[in-house]
Amino acid sequence: MSSTYPVRKKHLVLAIGMAAFLTGSLAVAAPAPWQDRSASTQDRVAALMQRMTKAEKLSLVTSELAMEFGNYKKPAGAIGSAAYVAAIGRLGVPALQISDAGLGVTNPVNARPGDGATALPAGQAQSGAFDLQLAREGGAMIGAEAKHRGFNVLLAGGMDLVRDPRNGRNFEYMGEDPILAGQIAAAEVAGVQSQHVISTIKHYAVNSYETGRMMSSMDMSVPAMQESDLLAFRIAVEEGKPGSIMCSYNKVNAVYACQNPYLLTDVLRGEWGYDGFVMSDWGALSDGAAAVTAGLDQDSASTLDRGPKFIDAMRKMANRPEGEKVLDTKVRHILTAMIANGVFDDQARPAEGDAEIAAHMAVARRIEEEGAVLLRNENATLPLASVKKILVVGGHADKGVIAGGGSSAVLPRGGSAVIDPVQPSLETMPHPIVFEPNPPLDALRKAMPGAKIVFNSGENPREVAELAQKADAVVVFVTKWQGESLDAPDLELTEADNALIEAVAQANRKSVVVLETGNPVVMPWFGKVGAVLEAWYPGSAGGEAIANLLSGKVAPSGRLTTTWPKALTDLPRPELPGAGHHAGAFPFDKSNIAYLKNYDLNIEGANVGYRWFAERKIAPAFPFGFGLSYTQFSHDGLTVSMSGKTAVAHAKVTNTGKRVGDDIVQIYAHAPDGTPLRLAGYGRVTLAPGESRIVDVPLSPYATARYDVAQKNWKQSAGTYRFVFAQNAADQTGPSASLSIDAE
Ligand code: BGC
Repeated sequence: MSSTYPVRKKHLVLAIGMAAFLTGSLAVAAPAPWQDRSASTQDRVAALMQRMTKAEKLSLVTSELAMEFGNYKKPAGAIGSAAYVAAIGRLGVPALQISDAGLGVTNPVNARPGDGATALPAGQAQSGAFDLQLAREGGAMIGAEAKHRGFNVLLAGGMDLVRDPRNGRNFEYMGEDPILAGQIAAAEVAGVQSQHVISTIKHYAVNSYETGRMMSSMDMSVPAMQESDLLAFRIAVEEGKPGSIMCSYNKVNAVYACQNPYLLTDVLRGEWGYDGFVMSDWGALSDGAAAVTAGLDQDSASTLDRGPKFIDAMRKMANRPEGEKVLDTKVRHILTAMIANGVFDDQARPAEGDAEIAAHMAVARRIEEEGAVLLRNENATLPLASVKKILVVGGHADKGVIAGGGSSAVLPRGGSAVIDPVQPSLETMPHPIVFEPNPPLDALRKAMPGAKIVFNSGENPREVAELAQKADAVVVFVTKWQGESLDAPDLELTEADNALIEAVAQANRKSVVVLETGNPVVMPWFGKVGAVLEAWYPGSAGGEAIANLLSGKVAPSGRLTTTWPKALTDLPRPELPGAGHHAGAFPFDKSNIAYLKNYDLNIEGANVGYRWFAERKIAPAFPFGFGLSYTQFSHDGLTVSMSGKTAVAHAKVTNTGKRVGDDIVQIYAHAPDGTPLRLAGYGRVTLAPGESRIVDVPLSPYATARYDVAQKNWKQSAGTYRFVFAQNAADQTGPSASLSIDAE
């Protein structure tokens, strides 16, 4: 990090003051009971709360916006980010410095001038890598960069299920499958929290659309919701133990998620036993008093709220004897997350220099290498290893790789490679369009020093066609930008991009299309090009990763975690009124009234994505789990056995091709009750040519269970299940095995 890193003087004074407080107390006496690391979290929290005044407790249940815009000035002590809660110096309670970090540590409206960070690739690549260890490393990378900047709470872990490929935020999410999304999010959370930084999962719950997001209701029956979106969150809570959960903007069954007692109290506390804290999304509260009783613990960036204020309701409540207990419960949730995650014991403080950039970029690169999906590769068009003259076209491939827009957008180190003329502000969300300065063109030249590689911007298809005729191969880069607060009206690329690809395909048989999109797209030219690589939004090291994949240094192995439909008419909701209309940032945008609509999610219910396509017998353009490699694999056998209480699949894979590559083992459960298939387990295996291995894949107990409404819990559903070792969700012809499950 540059020496101009904006450490605020006041913040330093605060940090020094706190250090003095801590060392002072250590020098003269034993540590206060809540500072005793050998005591349990519960005891430490209780001891601290005994010493806190009501005013101190109240100071923890709201956070303040920590960036400047318009007349709003960020609070003294805030580093500059999404939100801030002041320290309680008297008791050594650290300030909460809260930053967005879905893909990397953000720097909204350049609140910390020039402070760029490492961005991971989009959630589709993170989940598409099917690699829990790597997801954890991604989280640890973000956690380390956050801690280094003085942040101790991250708004990481976007994990709403992808119910519709038009949602502008899908690039922040982990795909359409609840078990995979929950486990990947859990791994990322565990990685962040390994750095003693609290992680948040969001947006709880069912924030399926951006269109009308601050007003619309997502309507769904309890069992369907439990077996889809809530299942993903449940798994993330159980396996990742996030210190915090962010409730969403939308209503769920007519009640705002942040004011929803069913979600915040009955399910989260009652059914899942969650002991961390719930924070609201920024400006999500329309009735703070309702949020108090529903179970919200911390009102985020309270200045953005509309309607009766949460803090006023809290103060009023805390003045009544039984009301103070409500305040205590909220404070206990916040302090539990802080103490359990080491926020007291290993305090984050802004440090000089940038932490381990090379190692962090390597994590981002590996996720992209494992998560990008090869959709087509006719006549071994890829890899380009032996090609001598390559034309690279379009997509600003000479400058960088594109990121998605909105609160998750990470400021690249060195600034954006392409300048978006729209001035960034909260009102112009999801701008700016950001390009990481990591051009695939430079990286390709480095990866293929023997090849002559030229670039053309792609504005003139005729000129491109002429150049393409003279090249041995052509790589066309196509970007489609999407972001928070906007859904796309369709899955189309621009006419200009389609025309450019057609022109290239006609001029050169060795044509490669690299897509940098946030969602599936329609490809009218698909049958005419040689190869298609979906790189998603490929993150800070995207250029290098794409070059490694194209040149063949690395064989593609990523798989789709969202079903690609052939047409919008194949989706549960073909029409999406208002899509493309800005959903409003903060505060409440009245122009959205025109698009106020409720979404009937019972149409597909728990049959999200591939389960919908299976139930309706619709063939997708590309199924969930699809992805090619430069080598081939055979799937030769499957057995399933019980190991203690866990079912484990043993799947035999052989690399039948000529080069090393990774296969993704996918095991789907077919239930005796006839409900559509579910991904039950998965694994990644690296195999040399000719090598065989039996891969042991633990199967999720949720794949053989149903939600029991009367008992408010999941129960194993008895019967004989068929497990299939499949290529993808739509091809279930692979080896299979049966297992009988007893009722619980
Ligand atoms: C987004 C959240 C984000 C928050 C703070 C909201 O607009 O929905 O995902 O964490 O802003 O930036």
